[in-house]
Amino acid sequence: PDRYAVVGNPVEHSRSPAIHAMFAEQTSQSLTYERLLAPLDGFEAALRTFVAAGAKGCNITVPFKFDAFALAATCTERARLGGAVNTLRFDADGWVGDNTDGAGLVNDIQKNAGRPLAGMQVLLVGAGGAAAGVLGSLIAARPAHITVVNRTVDKAQAVVAAHAHLGQTLNVGLSAATLADAPAAQDIVVNATSTSLAGAASPVDACVLKPGTLALDMMYGPKAQGFLDWAASHGAKPRDGLGMLVEQAAEAFFFWRGVRPDTAPVLRALRTAP
Ligand code: ATR
Repeated sequence: PDRYAVVGNPVEHSRSPAIHAMFAEQTSQSLTYERLLAPLDGFEAALRTFVAAGAKGCNITVPFKFDAFALAATCTERARLGGAVNTLRFDADGWVGDNTDGAGLVNDIQKNAGRPLAGMQVLLVGAGGAAAGVLGSLIAARPAHITVVNRTVDKAQAVVAAHAHLGQTLNVGLSAATLADAPAAQDIVVNATSTSLAGAASPVDACVLKPGTLALDMMYGPKAQGFLDWAASHGAKPRDGLGMLVEQAAEAFFFWRGVRPDTAPVLRALRTAP
């Protein structure tokens, strides 16, 4: 079987191995998928060892998505836009980088949560690697406007500037603001910050919500709970990042294998056996 892995630090709680095992079984693909803990100063060495052992590709998680972008010989356009890579394919003539997080997020919102993005007011909270990696795909889904807010406003401005051309081309309004200046009454709010928020807490004020706002945290498990509780307590519809995780994995699986797995039964299985 061909070897794949998720490479990160930490990586022990990743649910990607379970997801790819289900995809492989469902599509009769012969592959293994493991967890690879890379030292913080040894990401490239860990990859080279894995490749020398015959690996065909990997997913990359925190904090190595920018390093993976730098190591890829070529990149897909959606990876280049955010400057971050979450999927590598080890082709013989060079490593190819992709970023499937944005497509995963958009598919989860539209397909799994059943919420269209076209014409909507969207708030993206955060401007680190996670946020930068999904902004291009959010724009491509043609909402009316996306506001990127961040504690460090310069980073929000830089992420918006890097996508300004795409926004203009697709007629999607883009703006950057501080957390305190987040706009009120958004249709969809996506938390892409790395804070684990205790209790019912959020980096932004509850005025960003209105009844029924989809409030999605890109994390899953206990780390997402504070934000989800906050959203629910203000009448919004909370959603964790598990659906996005499964959808980005399906995009990566397709990038490696050329086969598109069915995500619905996999997401159901993960929800029933946490
Ligand atoms: P990731 O790859 O997960 O995006 P990152 O690049 O370190 O990681 O980005 C972390 C994000 O979470 C940033 O938007 C960060 O805000 P800053 O750019 O101002 O650092 C945000 N973040 C982290 N801790 C935060 C906190 N306590 N309050 C608000 N935002 C926070």
